[in-house]
Amino acid sequence: ADLRSEYVVRVTGTVRARPSQTENSDLPTGEIEIGADNVEILSAAEPPPFPLDERTEVDEKLRLQHRYLDLRRAPMQHNLRTRARVNSALRGAMEEQGFVEIETPMLIASTPEGARDFVVPSRLHPGNFYALPQSPQIFKQLCMVGGLDRYYQIARCLRDEDLRADRQFEFLQLDAEMSFADQEDVFECISHAVAAATEAVTGQRPTEFPRMTWREAMERFGSDKPDTRFGMELTELTPLFAETEFKVFQAPAVKGIRIPGGAAEVTRKRLDELTEDVKRWGGKGLVWMRVEEDSLNSPVAKFLTDDEVASLRFAMEAEVGDLLFIVADEWRNTTHLLGLLRLAMGRPSIDADGPLNFLWITEFPLFEELDGGKPVFMHHPFTMPHPEDLDLLDPDGGEALLDVRSLSYDLVLNGWELGSGSVRIHRPDIQSQIFTLLGIETEEAEEKFGFLLDAFRYGAPPHAGFAFGTDRLTALLVGEENIREVIAFPKTQSGADPLTKAPSPLEPKHLDELGLRLLPPAT
Ligand code: AMO
Ligand code: AMP
Repeated sequence: ADLRSEYVVRVTGTVRARPSQTENSDLPTGEIEIGADNVEILSAAEPPPFPLDERTEVDEKLRLQHRYLDLRRAPMQHNLRTRARVNSALRGAMEEQGFVEIETPMLIASTPEGARDFVVPSRLHPGNFYALPQSPQIFKQLCMVGGLDRYYQIARCLRDEDLRADRQFEFLQLDAEMSFADQEDVFECISHAVAAATEAVTGQRPTEFPRMTWREAMERFGSDKPDTRFGMELTELTPLFAETEFKVFQAPAVKGIRIPGGAAEVTRKRLDELTEDVKRWGGKGLVWMRVEEDSLNSPVAKFLTDDEVASLRFAMEAEVGDLLFIVADEWRNTTHLLGLLRLAMGRPSIDADGPLNFLWITEFPLFEELDGGKPVFMHHPFTMPHPEDLDLLDPDGGEALLDVRSLSYDLVLNGWELGSGSVRIHRPDIQSQIFTLLGIETEEAEEKFGFLLDAFRYGAPPHAGFAFGTDRLTALLVGEENIREVIAFPKTQSGADPLTKAPSPLEPKHLDELGLRLLPPAT
């Protein structure tokens, strides 16, 4: 009568079969019981702040504040045990392939990956700071110079960026680098490791790792991480409207997607919301059309000629009852906006029992955009330009620089970017050329990366590598939409830990030791 739920007890007695009719096949121990001779309470328990036995919706903050209780729940037990199986299979697969585990330091100088660094003030060198690694990128390249020709690590990385479902401040990567290797070698080794981890969890070894160039992914799916579990691919309409009188379609790129049966399903209110979404995402507007027997029901139908309507229906393979969305803009914006619409209209949820569509995306552009005329790197500044595009690397190249392809690649799974990598620049002359293009002046390059350029002067083997997020892989394998569900002690959306109360203020004495003074909070 004294026992309550969550008490920790020791029961001594005889294990025996349950009387017939009282077995419970839903429980692993449902066929036995203990004839208790003695029950001892090892630890009493207060009632838990939320129920632990079912998957009830519990507030995230409350769960994280009592994470030690949340961890007792069956899904968390399953997720963390699965995570350990993933890590162990990855280690096994890498070692089998001759990779050597090497630990790189946490207190380092900055490594450029495109996010903000977390920094640590130095007590012994007042006014100086360490950066925490956004990735082991530079160290793994130095390992190649150091003759450790197949390196791997399940590496902890830290990035001060806005948190999302697939992003935490701290996360883990399976990080790898190989010498005398090209893209094919990396694909083979990484596919092997990912397949091993998947098999360890699902019992089935994925064999298909198809490939697609970045350009094709953008043209067909409007995304560099296409979710290929469903269709709704983009249709090219630009040539069709080359001579159009309709102002909106007189744009560099006109494309559309078809929502089968969408005409009745998608209400007028929803269409207005989607139009607003497109504007929020950076578009000018959205043309929608409901396909009817002998006309297109759309506010803009009256601006199109009969020929245009007929060609459009043909190109889109439109059937009565379909809904068409058309966007006209610069190529990048048109593909990007339709890619987002496609996901909004058709994306299946993350499902542990569903298909796992792995996909390599190759030939990413070297630069993402021009910022005041200066190109901004897409992956990181150590990525080898595509050999066929080397002659486009002209500092005055302007927009043409955005067409320069690189030897970088991503692995995508069901619409998530699982990982990225590239063939690296191993020649100091090309590396210096890229720094110059990026507007990293010689002096700055010398100061920030001089040690890497120096290292390359002592004989650097050609090398290539990759890193993928193990939190993301595990989440997808257990069917979770948020990587927080596969991390034992994650942060909330606002980057706080409600359990330990991090981040928290420093004692004035501690600040003094570090030579730091705080500014009043910005208003
Ligand atoms: P990249 O920056 O693409 O590449 O990172 C590789 C992978 O790490 C995971 N990842 C994250 N996971 C959770 N939370 C985050 N905030 C987060 N940021 C990244 C993703 C991502 O694909 N040094 C290069 C790799 C290389 O070139 O070898 C790098 O770090 O799954
Ligand atoms: P407007 O001529 O701006 O009144 O737009 C007419 C219709 O075209 C509206 O339904 C807009 O949402 C849509 N529209 C405007 N600009 C674009 C564009 N660039 N791409 C697709 N649709 C657009």
